[in-house]
Amino acid sequence: MLEIRKLSLSIPVSGQHVLAVSDVSLQLPAGKVLALVGESGCGKSLTAQSLLRLGEFQGVNKEAGDIVLHDKSLFDLSADELRHIRGGVISMIFQEPMTALNPVFTIGSQILEVIGLHTDLDKQAAYARALSLLADVGLQDGETLMKQYPDSLSGGMRQRILIAMAMAGEPEFIIADEPTTALDVSVQKRIIALLRSLQREKGMGMLLVTHDFGLVAEMADEVAVMYAGEIVEYASVTDIFDNPSHPYTQALMNCRPETARDTTELTVIPGNVPSPGSWAQGCRFAPRCSLARDVCKTHASLDVWTNDNHLARCVRVGEGA
Ligand SMILES: Nc1ncnc2c1ncn2[C@@H]1O[C@H](COP(=O)(O)OP(=O)(O)OP(=O)(O)O)[C@@H](O)[C@H]1O
Ligand SMILES: [Mg+2]
Repeated sequence: MLEIRKLSLSIPVSGQHVLAVSDVSLQLPAGKVLALVGESGCGKSLTAQSLLRLGEFQGVNKEAGDIVLHDKSLFDLSADELRHIRGGVISMIFQEPMTALNPVFTIGSQILEVIGLHTDLDKQAAYARALSLLADVGLQDGETLMKQYPDSLSGGMRQRILIAMAMAGEPEFIIADEPTTALDVSVQKRIIALLRSLQREKGMGMLLVTHDFGLVAEMADEVAVMYAGEIVEYASVTDIFDNPSHPYTQALMNCRPETARDTTELTVIPGNVPSPGSWAQGCRFAPRCSLARDVCKTHASLDVWTNDNHLARCVRVGEGA
């Protein structure tokens, strides 16, 4: 189990630190897929990157809370232990396959470097392992590929190579932050199918950051909806689709082309996600919520559990509305 407990993170804005993620709790059980959804700027990537403590390199501060891997705090680990965790226990797949690969090194040298970090294999065995990792992600002509540079490959191939590299340390958990948004639609489907089959085959826990509710329905066991730095709804995938309880979740779902097919227009949520530092005083979604009342503008909503496993942060839910 990998768990985020009441985590608050701040970011640097004009010389000051302002809260960008607040009081977030998430659980990532082994072998399950948790989807994290929400509009751009809600804090999804900050939350995802915190699982590898990557934000620290970009001035992100932990203000409160903890991240616990197998009962041990990630913040108590030594630099060596943390290096082992990164890629060896928790791996990350980023949105942009080009920026994550180094253009001046061959694919082979980059894969072999990762294998070297996570295993004690000799040169020959490491080479064989690289070929088998490439085959696992559907790249058959591994020997030729190993000699090529990232530039000469398509976006889909590059993302497959990054997935192969993420698998090199046989991680227990994989963090996929919008792994397909930079790819063509047809390639997206194949990469998702690949990720899903690897996740199931190897029994990995997965945090999938996405905007795409279609993808959520296809892949996730649990769903957390994030708005302005906080989790506003958290439930099983069936509960989220059968009984979306927070007005923000409902609004997000109404924006889906599939949902809107019967109506003449796509619904749009008015206004924008507030940036960190300018969150509303009461419920953070209230300024954009068609159901908001006076109380929503003055009082922050509290978490309400509609059943043991379904959380929504909205006064109306508390009243059984
Ligand atoms: N290192 C940083 N320094 C300053 N601000 C940051 C930093 N990282 C993120 N932010 C800001 O924090 C907020 C949340 O960012 P985050 O990247 O987590 O959003 P997101 O939900 O992943 O959005 P998207 O869907 O666009 O990827 C944004 O306003 C972003 O500009
Ligand atoms: Mg992001």
